[in-house]
Amino acid sequence: MTRGAGSAVQAGADDPQLSSFLLLLVSGGVVFVASVFSKWLPGADGRFDSEAIIKGLHTPLPQRPRRLYVPCIIFLTVARLQIMHRVVHDLQCSSRGVEAFLPVLLAFYEFMSHKPAPVESDEPEDMWGSFWEDFKAWVVTSPITLLLSTVLFSLGTHFGVRLGARSTYFCSTLLDRRHRPGPRVFLHVYSTVDLRIIPDGTYSYPYLFGFTLFMYANNMRSIIVIGRPFVILILMVVLIASTVYAPFRIGPMDRHPVDDLVYKGRVNADRWLRHATVSTTLRSAVREYKDRYHGRNPPPNFDKWFSFAQQRKSAIIDKFDQIDKDILPFWGMNLQKIRSGLDFLKSLPDIGVITIADGKVYHSQPSDPSQRQVLDDVVSMISSFSEHLPDMSVAINLNERPRILVPWDDVYRMALSGSKPRFNIFHNRLHRRQVGDRKPPLGNSNGASTAAETSTSQPIVSAQKFHHLQAFACPPGSPTRAGIHWNVRDFCAACANPHSQGQFVQDWQKSLDPCHQPDLFNLHDFHMARHGYEIHQTLLPLFSGSKTDSFNDILIPLVKSNSTDRVDSTAFADKFNRAFWQGDVADIQSLTSQSLHGGHRQRLLHLVNNATSAESISILMGTGNDKRMRFHYEDIQARTVNSHLPLSFSFTTSEPCDTADCRLIQQEFGFQERGTPTDKLFVLLLDNSDGPPPDLLPVLRSYSVPVLSSIFREWYTERILPWVHFIPIDVRYHGLHSTLSYFIGLKYNGPLNGKSQTMDSRKEDARWIAEEGRKWAHKTMRKEDMEVYLFRLLLEWGRVIDDDRDNLGFVLEEKS
Ligand SMILES: *[C@@H]1O[C@H](CO)[C@@H](O)[C@H](O)[C@H]1NC(C)=O
Ligand SMILES: *[C@@H]1O[C@H](CO)[C@@H](O)[C@H](O)[C@H]1NC(C)=O
Repeated sequence: MTRGAGSAVQAGADDPQLSSFLLLLVSGGVVFVASVFSKWLPGADGRFDSEAIIKGLHTPLPQRPRRLYVPCIIFLTVARLQIMHRVVHDLQCSSRGVEAFLPVLLAFYEFMSHKPAPVESDEPEDMWGSFWEDFKAWVVTSPITLLLSTVLFSLGTHFGVRLGARSTYFCSTLLDRRHRPGPRVFLHVYSTVDLRIIPDGTYSYPYLFGFTLFMYANNMRSIIVIGRPFVILILMVVLIASTVYAPFRIGPMDRHPVDDLVYKGRVNADRWLRHATVSTTLRSAVREYKDRYHGRNPPPNFDKWFSFAQQRKSAIIDKFDQIDKDILPFWGMNLQKIRSGLDFLKSLPDIGVITIADGKVYHSQPSDPSQRQVLDDVVSMISSFSEHLPDMSVAINLNERPRILVPWDDVYRMALSGSKPRFNIFHNRLHRRQVGDRKPPLGNSNGASTAAETSTSQPIVSAQKFHHLQAFACPPGSPTRAGIHWNVRDFCAACANPHSQGQFVQDWQKSLDPCHQPDLFNLHDFHMARHGYEIHQTLLPLFSGSKTDSFNDILIPLVKSNSTDRVDSTAFADKFNRAFWQGDVADIQSLTSQSLHGGHRQRLLHLVNNATSAESISILMGTGNDKRMRFHYEDIQARTVNSHLPLSFSFTTSEPCDTADCRLIQQEFGFQERGTPTDKLFVLLLDNSDGPPPDLLPVLRSYSVPVLSSIFREWYTERILPWVHFIPIDVRYHGLHSTLSYFIGLKYNGPLNGKSQTMDSRKEDARWIAEEGRKWAHKTMRKEDMEVYLFRLLLEWGRVIDDDRDNLGFVLEEKS
């Protein structure tokens, strides 16, 4: 009963199995071809073992039993795949760096099967010289040397591999089969032979000595074309350099990185605001528009929008990059295709249609009341400016998950042709399109050709299929495009580094891009649950409330009916110094083995509430006095760090827990009473399985500090700035404890790891972020701001779907 999610387990391991099969096939082929060609290479008689080959030539081998070959190879291949499958299945529970000892097995075999060469007695020369010569000969030929050097070599590699951090994809003590070291280690050695050279400080010395000895013992005079002394010299230089350099790199810092990030955030926020509010007059707004958006004129009725924005006191006038990014590919798309795409969308489930005709707005009246509510809200927003919009109808995605995921190459091509500035030959005929000048609403024309035939879509998309689609939506050469990341056990530093400074998120916008983070597919429920409906690979004009970076849905402000009404007016000073998160199990719709171990909420709860004694956390801690604080990273048992910080993270349940999945979660993580975030200083905001944290805006508007860990974008995502309006947390959570301890302080709960802590809380920074976020949300994320955004979006959209879109635009009449 504890393995309720068992059946789903199979699915995840299918792909690694197939790819390892292909890998075997390809490497087998390569080895075969290489062996054929190697015969013609000069000196191909074998450098190490030429004797054996010569012997082999003289003593003809017995006739090989060829009939046994094929079954034998099939058996070995299947066995290899099975082993691979078993190991990948519970990789997070395997120990690391064991594979480095594989060569020791071979060396041991060599050692045991070694026959001493017959002693050839030469005429004795002088005693000392001959002793030295003998010793050298013994060192080079003795099997012990080979064994010893291999052990050292492996030891160095082993330490190097173990140095890296572990991922937060966890091994459950409750659910994963008891980890039997013997067979598991054995299996592991055979399936992930992966020798890496990580020269890092003192751990690499065995590596260097082992390697040197190994080269002598094997009588290797060169590697490829580099001579032995030179190879050793290079290794030594690298080693010494890394030993000298390492303390500077990870050694104590005088400033906490978050200090820098908060400071840079402030500077950045000023610059951002200046960039967003350049224009105070229509004339400068038009000029800014042309400068920023491909030299185009603003859309018709831009003047109406401008005065609308001014009247609503919109702080942001010039910066609407998300709208531009979403709509740009449609400039490169044939109008007929946009229209048939809309017709096709109308035939799909959970699509609402909003029609604007003759200045009136209405929607398609879906039967679901909550869906109707969403559309009602959009219609009421649009109706305050609908008289200025051309006739159109737009399709709104009423599911939370985005649905349009077009291959990168297609989007790139379309966006490229869309961004070419259109030099208008008919400049004088440029006209302002007025409301009276109408076209029939989109989609009512041309009913004959539907996009259904041309649209490539996948019914019910499995997580695997989703990964493939996602890979195609990334640029060629990006890590996500390159393949599946199946190593759930180790922390993927290459995935986090491009947007991080140490453990901390430095570039929030970049952290939303999945294309350099293939490991995300094992770390977030959005990527691990199957999509309950189609994902479309052709560009379709669909408006959605949220999406991840690669999706091509057009973002639209949608009111979340149930979250916005909660008002939290507890003052900052009245809040408890706690970090809080609670999630209802009902939000986890489909639990698989992967999502149980890797889902973003599950990983968090395991890390904070259920870490085993073997798990550790690297935390940035401060020592010294107020005058001279020093900060350094230290690995500490996770349980110790957790008890040092005031964290309350838990699942709750509002319904009786009677499904198998729910009971599984209850056993693994336990439930807590429902609490309230309003009296907590730090409110952690995590995504749902399908979309962004529903409470993001309410918490921004409150006096609490929003601590945001998300992969989704919404219409206002480009407006909120990390370390200014909220505290960003990488979804891998490796920086969670260090980040929170900067604000909460470490000195209140006694020493950590035997070191007395002097790091005080930075409550003033926390208060400042809470206050900035609050002011900013009340200034730029109001209902009015949604209207301003929506108005501009629909003006842009109205133009891009017009037959005359290349000539259409707003130009100021020159006053002479
Ligand atoms: C919104 O809240 C009401 C009760 O306040 C509830 O009945 C409804 O199901 C909720 N809707 C959603 C979409 O959560
Ligand atoms: C994890 O922690 C929770 C709460 O502390 C507890 O109820 C649950 O039993 C723990 N799970 C395991 C597997 O230890």
